[in-house]
Amino acid sequence: MESKKVCVPLLSREQIAAAVGRLAAELNRDYRRKHPLVIGILKGCYVFMADLTRQLEMPVEIDFARLSSYGPGTETSGKVRLISSPRIDIRGRDVIVLEDIIDTGLTVKCFLKYLQRRQPASVKVCALADKPARRRVAVNIDYLGFIVPDRFLVGYGLDCDEKYRNLPDICALEDSV
Ligand code: PRP
Repeated sequence: MESKKVCVPLLSREQIAAAVGRLAAELNRDYRRKHPLVIGILKGCYVFMADLTRQLEMPVEIDFARLSSYGPGTETSGKVRLISSPRIDIRGRDVIVLEDIIDTGLTVKCFLKYLQRRQPASVKVCALADKPARRRVAVNIDYLGFIVPDRFLVGYGLDCDEKYRNLPDICALEDSV
């Protein structure tokens, strides 16, 4: 029988808002005279992307890619698939890749490889959360909100079997005792 899960609060909406504000300030400083192309990796990025990009003060263009490494449940399959690629031309652009969380690093590494083949002017990675305990491949994160512990996290875009994405806080999903 499937065990009952409980959501244990980890990062409050106030803590998340403060981190997103700090990241936006860093991007506003570094891209002040630029016109970046912000590409969010769906679906987990959708809340983070909406909050962050609304605080960007330079002209930006927005696009999405969809990659998936997790099947049903809480373990990565280890195989990353590009399900949907960005539509805007990447060549010569200053690209900012937005991720909700970097775990093994396989998703972002696969996407960076895809981008580099298309000759962008620059590529930086901005992630709300980094879970270094699970890293399998090295990834350079240029803008980071939080380092998080090795727990299965949901909320603020993060899911478990497509549920919990709409929670306003980030919580650890744990078996109830
Ligand atoms: C999650 C998350 C990241 C990725 C990180 O996406 O949103 O994109 O996994 O894991 P990794 O560093 O181990 O590759 P997922 O594949 O679950 O798809 P989703 O965003 O649609 O939930």
